[in-house]
Amino acid sequence: MFTTFQQHIVQEQTRRPGSPVELQWLLSGVILASKLIQSQVRRAGLIDILGAVNEINPQGEVQQKLDVYANETLIKCFGLRESVGVIASEENEFPIAVHPNSPEAQYAIVFDPLDGSSNIDVAVTIGTTFSILRRPENCDTSDTLNWVLQPGRQQVAAGYVLYGSSTVLVYSMGNGVHGFTFDPSIGSYILSHENIKMPEQGTYYSINEAYNEIFPSKYVEYIKRVRKGELGKFYSSRFIGSMVADFHRTLLRGGIFIYPETPNYPNGRLRLLYEANPIAYIAEQAGGMATNSVQPILDIQPHELHQRTPLVIGGKSEMEAFMNCIQD
Ligand code: AHG
Ligand code: MN
Ligand code: MN
Repeated sequence: MFTTFQQHIVQEQTRRPGSPVELQWLLSGVILASKLIQSQVRRAGLIDILGAVNEINPQGEVQQKLDVYANETLIKCFGLRESVGVIASEENEFPIAVHPNSPEAQYAIVFDPLDGSSNIDVAVTIGTTFSILRRPENCDTSDTLNWVLQPGRQQVAAGYVLYGSSTVLVYSMGNGVHGFTFDPSIGSYILSHENIKMPEQGTYYSINEAYNEIFPSKYVEYIKRVRKGELGKFYSSRFIGSMVADFHRTLLRGGIFIYPETPNYPNGRLRLLYEANPIAYIAEQAGGMATNSVQPILDIQPHELHQRTPLVIGGKSEMEAFMNCIQD
């Protein structure tokens, strides 16, 4: 017997009667958008070929790039939901106000429509990350920026979709972490990973080692100790270049993913609101930790929509070793 996402949501409603129905309806927006996006991702190479043909089409149809398509799809799917007041995306400079005069509009959703863009053209795993926040009290509907400038701790739900060897949706609304695999033959997400817990100690560390010479010394020192086997075991390394894919492996297999500050990105490369926050929320719900090396990611008070952050995220054992190492 299998459980679809919709069945799971109904069961959660019975288990946790207080959980808002609007929030579940919002999550169904992720389901719809990600089905549309994944169907385009699966044909990405073919779309490029068709796009070239379309250039000579007298009707002048132009194929959209996948990240633009993903962004527009998410905006449409969430924009239809009355409970959404603000939508913010990596692809848009400013938050978008939707249903500005509706008292029903109580949620903001922030997303990276397509994470790992450099991997699209080479058919390597990419993803979508999303974070859902409640409208802050006394926040005017037009004050869209303040809807989203909240610490990650305030997220009411978050997650990601991975377009990999299969399409997987991982989410939490404070009820543990649950993963669903898309079955294309029936067009549904099926519960495949219930109540995910990160292994306390894993096998892999994940960092772009090309930057080893320019990382701050505390990170270099930690990696040196990892490589020497000084943290109790010998690790192997993996780095995909799609944060969401590197994190998904870390969630299921344990280990650590690190993206430090560099001279090019003095505040880190990854974006706090729609990249670091959703996966930090998932990590904590699964028994892991996430930090910028100074404080937990979820405690950072954001000041800008596209604010960047260093990110260190992983299982308990690796994270404790990291914290000990940078305090030495
Ligand atoms: P995006 O495609 O949304 O811009 O994000 C890409 C990010 C992240 O997914 C990945 O971990 C990182 O960029 C890779 O950067 P480097 O190539 O510098 O390692
Ligand atoms: Mn990204
Ligand atoms: Mn992106």
